[in-house]
Amino acid sequence: MNKPIGIFDSGVGGTSIWKEVIKLLPNENTIYLADSKNAPYGEKPSEEILSLSIKNTELLISKGCKLIIVACNTATTNAIDFLRKNYNIPFIGIEPAIKPAALQSKTGAIGILATKGTLTSELFAKTAFEYTKHITTIEQDGEGLVSLIEAGKLNSKELNELLSTYLKPMLQFNIDHLVLGCTHYPYLIPQINEILGGAIKIIDSGEAVAKQTKAILEKNNLLSTKTTISQHQFCINTKTEVITEILNDVSVVISVERLEF
Ligand code: DGL
Repeated sequence: MNKPIGIFDSGVGGTSIWKEVIKLLPNENTIYLADSKNAPYGEKPSEEILSLSIKNTELLISKGCKLIIVACNTATTNAIDFLRKNYNIPFIGIEPAIKPAALQSKTGAIGILATKGTLTSELFAKTAFEYTKHITTIEQDGEGLVSLIEAGKLNSKELNELLSTYLKPMLQFNIDHLVLGCTHYPYLIPQINEILGGAIKIIDSGEAVAKQTKAILEKNNLLSTKTTISQHQFCINTKTEVITEILNDVSVVISVERLEF
């Protein structure tokens, strides 16, 4: 089925997921919505995150998407149950990968860096309760990081200092895994490694989301059968440069448009 896969995030963070998806599924067309105008979602109340997720979903469905990836931990943990119940297409979500980190930890301590919206969600509480009873978890709200990335300040001193403030205290607890619970954060991996010294395993969920997307497309007989080059359309409701800068190293052709939504 040659309809596109829809992907949305509060901004450009979900492109870290999009990259994994097109690597595993090069034959699929994609449409990505970056709701940068409303970022950060993680500092908004749950009801607002839900209504923004509904708005994004309806736009992607109106563009003919056959499956939607909620490439945002905050939107997944606050809205995916509602979306699955109310729309008749498959949804793939992303949650902080607490389970593998907890199972693999040797020191019995893991760090979780995520937004406030994710850390305070019911789904997060449920997963944490299930898998982390036997270990110490250090949860840290990454307040401010998403806004700096959206503002194009990925390599700034300001961001580096904020990240250091959030991560350094985790070292005192002897963590051996750091879970990245926000799709913007994989773009910070070089800085994180520098701050934590490289010995701590960083876990993000991009590859797992791509594998799950493939499995669900297969199961529903929705895999693309086309033989032409794939099209990747990006829609953003702020400046298009935010997307083109963060994707300046990709080798596929993409189109980026500014859209009011
Ligand atoms: N990329 C989003 C996530 O994974 C960022 C949330 C936000 O906008 O605060 O949670």
